[in-house]
Amino acid sequence: MNGPNLGILGRREPEIYGTDTLADIVAAVAAEVAARGWEVVPVQRESEGALVEAVHAHWDTAGAIVNPGALMIAGWSLRDALAAYPRPWMEVHLSNVWARESFRHQSVLAPIANGVIAGLGSLGYRLAARALLELAPA
Ligand code: DQA
Repeated sequence: MNGPNLGILGRREPEIYGTDTLADIVAAVAAEVAARGWEVVPVQRESEGALVEAVHAHWDTAGAIVNPGALMIAGWSLRDALAAYPRPWMEVHLSNVWARESFRHQSVLAPIANGVIAGLGSLGYRLAARALLELAPA
């Protein structure tokens, strides 16, 4: 699940976020989880309310990889939606947010995530998928 400005990956500040598109990333995650019989439900929304609705709509999923974009900083209603989500989920950031501007150093989501990966580019999504394979009940 991807928040604002992540639908334009590939052409969005590629020196920071890399050249992979969101479709590339979804395909890579799908390849990681295919052997388990899981399918990826890709979600990208530009607004917090739409992301909250998406969390509600996908409670029946095995787990979630969440890149909230800038909503990490103050996305309190997204936090509450994820607090109620009954499955494991990983927060992922392509860039190392702690090596960037100080306003990116706060995540209201991280304290309730099962884990956080930042700074590894699209590899972070694949590693998060592997973590979910371990964390989700068989
Ligand atoms: C991001 C980092 C955020 O600070 C930024 O607002 C984004 C992308 C990342 O993946 O590195 O939109 O979440």
